[in-house]
Amino acid sequence: MFDAMHTPDNVLLVGGSSDIGVEIAKSLARRGTTRFVLAGRDLEAMQRSANAISSVATGEGVSVSVIFYDVVAEKSYQALLEVASTELETIDYAIFATGALGDQDEDENSPASTLEILEINFSKLAPAILNVANHMSKQGFGQIVVLSSVAGIRVRRSNFIYGSAKAGLDGFAMALGESLIDKGVKVTVVRPGFVKTKMTSHLKAAPLSTTPEEVAKATLAATDHQNASVYVPSAIGLVIGVYRHLPRALARKIPF
Ligand SMILES: NC(=O)c1ccc[n+]([C@@H]2O[C@H](COP(=O)([O-])OP(=O)(O)OC[C@H]3O[C@@H](n4cnc5c(N)ncnc54)[C@H](OP(=O)(O)O)[C@@H]3O)[C@@H](O)[C@H]2O)c1
Repeated sequence: MFDAMHTPDNVLLVGGSSDIGVEIAKSLARRGTTRFVLAGRDLEAMQRSANAISSVATGEGVSVSVIFYDVVAEKSYQALLEVASTELETIDYAIFATGALGDQDEDENSPASTLEILEINFSKLAPAILNVANHMSKQGFGQIVVLSSVAGIRVRRSNFIYGSAKAGLDGFAMALGESLIDKGVKVTVVRPGFVKTKMTSHLKAAPLSTTPEEVAKATLAATDHQNASVYVPSAIGLVIGVYRHLPRALARKIPF
């Protein structure tokens, strides 16, 4: 359930070792959320996330558990919901923060790698989001946060595999939100630009780069106001708003 300040009791973080996901969970813990389930592949890393979330929690009796979840595993969407709904009395707030950037140059020469990036970022994640959404719909309330990216708003040549997966995810999540409008379930799509995390640690920071803390702050503001989507930082929304409408020949001249 949610309190009057829109703070959830129970949170599911899918991508329990994600730098951005953990910052969002920490922000909720600071507000008073007491029950977290972290789902992901790396149990040791998630235990570190659990400790970080517990260390900033302000509510009494905080509990953070970790469960195994691999997006690409067979029927993982089913197992995720089964375990999460056993661990949590209700799934109030679910954050989907899994993702993999891949290596465009290598992946475009490997159909298997291309498939994996599409599955992790979209095709095998979407059923998991839908399953949680249907569960929330039955319970009559819930908030879903989906980590999309500006990369999916106008897909660029330089990362079109990851970008097209995010484009699919973004469209899916936005329309899912529309479909749930009368069910008490809200979907907020978060579209960061370049965020300094372990996903991007090997890359040179892009202009308007931001931090997991800023993404967490913007995410909570967006879910407080029940916004369907948010760009982080907000200025990147203006930039991408222009860029997405540039004629193809002009867009081609922009070196990224
Ligand atoms: N960083 C950026 O610049 C940026 C910009 C826009 C959008 N985003 C999006 O924001 C989200 C969080 O990214 P981040 O920056 O926090 O990166 P991160 O720290 O690398 O987190 C990515 C998460 O995805 C998980 N993951 C990858 N493949 C998985 C699989 N097959 N099954 C289960 N979990 C899997 C990773 O788990 P493991 O620890 O097991 O690998 C990790 O928890 C992602 O959706 C990303 O695409 C990031």
